[in-house]
Amino acid sequence: MTRAHNFCAGPAALPQPVLERAQAEFLNWSDIGASVMEVSHRSPAFMEVAQQAEASLRRLMAVSDDYAVLFLQGGASLQFAAVPLNLSAPGQSVDQVVTGQWSKKALLEGQRFGSVNVAATSEGSGFTTVPPQNGWQVDSSATYLHYCPNETIGGLEFDFVPQIDVPLVADMSSTILSRPIDVNQFGVLYAGAQKNIGPAGLCLVVVHRELLGRARAEAPAMLNWKTAADNDSMYNTPPTFALYLTGLVFEWLENLGGLEEMEAINRRKAGKLYHLIDNSDFYSNPVETVSRSLMNVPFTRADDGLDPVFLQEAEAVRLLNLKGHRSVGGMRASLYNAVEEASVDALCDFMQDFEQRHG
Ligand SMILES: Cc1ncc(COP(=O)(O)O)c(C=O)c1O
Repeated sequence: MTRAHNFCAGPAALPQPVLERAQAEFLNWSDIGASVMEVSHRSPAFMEVAQQAEASLRRLMAVSDDYAVLFLQGGASLQFAAVPLNLSAPGQSVDQVVTGQWSKKALLEGQRFGSVNVAATSEGSGFTTVPPQNGWQVDSSATYLHYCPNETIGGLEFDFVPQIDVPLVADMSSTILSRPIDVNQFGVLYAGAQKNIGPAGLCLVVVHRELLGRARAEAPAMLNWKTAADNDSMYNTPPTFALYLTGLVFEWLENLGGLEEMEAINRRKAGKLYHLIDNSDFYSNPVETVSRSLMNVPFTRADDGLDPVFLQEAEAVRLLNLKGHRSVGGMRASLYNAVEEASVDALCDFMQDFEQRHG
């Protein structure tokens, strides 16, 4: 069986060695005669899995002890609510920057909990640009600033980390672990797992310990980061299988050489695809060059009538999940960590061949 080339935006491809290992251990994990899914999350064997996953992430991202690492549920979407509940009191204002569909969703959720100042938005450009920070209108009384460094749908990525005086909160769902970052620049970062971390069902939150203990009194225990930190992310039953697989993904990344090596591979992959697009009159990418995403590459064609043919022919040669989001149209290739360079080569070959036949 050969696996298909999977460009899904999420849940996304997982590294094959991780899946093979999980398959081999599926019925009899750690020689205990049961699956990892069938043991207590409080058993020493499973606690070890959780601790190792956290330790591995801390090594990969150089996360210091000043930060708590939390594995939560509810996806990144629940953090859109958890952020204001943990970091702002009723009546306090917050800043949000809107550069695409996900930061817009975060804005809509944030507005349920208090007054939000939109410090900057690129909606006017169809979310194809990142507003330069010197034009942002921040609120001097805001308790934090929220933004999304990589917009998965538009394929728009910040090429800078905002420099501000209040805690910086980042939705890193589709960029986390794609390259090294300096965690110390952030108050909080969070990410749904189902792209570069592991299977769906987990959300990673890395939060500076100084920001714990500020949650509103009415914040549900399950949304209070301090509750999670005080209970090693086991206030209730965690999604154990997802956590186990996540640990395997982190181990795979470490064995590969860590995030520097991953970044080099990701740059090669994205570079090949953007190069093809830029050297063609047939395909185009709408995003300003400096803000193009390393992970999510939308590409459209002037004549979108051929898009269904493109997708059908691509699927026939096992290039899967290339349909663009309905708000952008065209196609989108997500090139997360587990998407192999050979898959990008196969996509580029197909695109060139398609252009020759239909251009
Ligand atoms: C940038 C970004 N934020 C948030 C989400 C929502 O994540 P979840 O489905 O885990 O709630 C996604 C999902 O694709 C995303 O790409």
